[in-house]
Amino acid sequence: MKLVTFCSFKGGAGKTTALMGLCSALISSGRRVALFEADENRPLSRWRANAAERDTWDPGCSIFVADELPLLEEAYAQADAEHFDYVLIDTEGGSSELNNTIIASSNLLMVPTMLTPLDVDEALATYRYIIELLMGEDLVIPTAILRQRVPVGRLTMSQRSVSDMLHALPLTRNPLHERDAFASMKDRGMLHLSIEKAAADPGLRLALRNLDNAMEELLQLGEFVAEALEA
Ligand SMILES: Nc1ncnc2c1ncn2[C@@H]1O[C@H](COP(=O)(O)OP(=O)(O)OP(=O)(O)O)[C@@H](O)[C@H]1O
Ligand SMILES: [Mg+2]
Repeated sequence: MKLVTFCSFKGGAGKTTALMGLCSALISSGRRVALFEADENRPLSRWRANAAERDTWDPGCSIFVADELPLLEEAYAQADAEHFDYVLIDTEGGSSELNNTIIASSNLLMVPTMLTPLDVDEALATYRYIIELLMGEDLVIPTAILRQRVPVGRLTMSQRSVSDMLHALPLTRNPLHERDAFASMKDRGMLHLSIEKAAADPGLRLALRNLDNAMEELLQLGEFVAEALEA
């Protein structure tokens, strides 16, 4: 069982959205995925409730509430007993003892960031924090910056220079772009199941194309994650 954690100091960096998308991509590639909800705002539980209404939730995917240390331990034991392939962990922004424990227990860390100077500053601070924490605990855990909400069209000068700067750090191979298909996952449920529904409805052909483009990015992210975990 591999633990993949999304973390950032900054709120709204795109952690939960990237996690939802990766979850869908891994499930559609046949992996068994559990989610740990370490954000007390419970965005994943809300996601599941919205998905259940639309019949776009895979019941094989369990959510374990893990927003306190004892719950985290329980969640780990239970997920391990149920032999999930992946656990994706959604953390709250900022640093806390809970987040430190999650970081140190992970097999792969992902730090999402948008391409503004402010966001990248925060991502660098998060990255540095992670490295110091891992060094202090004598741990080596692969950590990658995920460029999130990257405009689909041309980048501005500022976005390009920020993006160039990020290349000094370990990055996921591809970014996730700013797409309605990503923003609407929280309401629409799991992307691969939304795609199945749209494919069955001739009126949704245009929407289907956008959903497919989003899924393509997520499958690439899934491949990157699998490779990073093997390395
Ligand atoms: N690739 C994307 N394309 C379009 N919208 C996105 C994308 N990623 C995230 N968003 C939107 O940005 C907002 C913040 O994203 P999200 O909730 O994933 O961030 P977060 O890091 O989990 O925030 P928090 O720190 O509050 O938990 C949400 O409204 C989400 O729909
Ligand atoms: Mg979140």
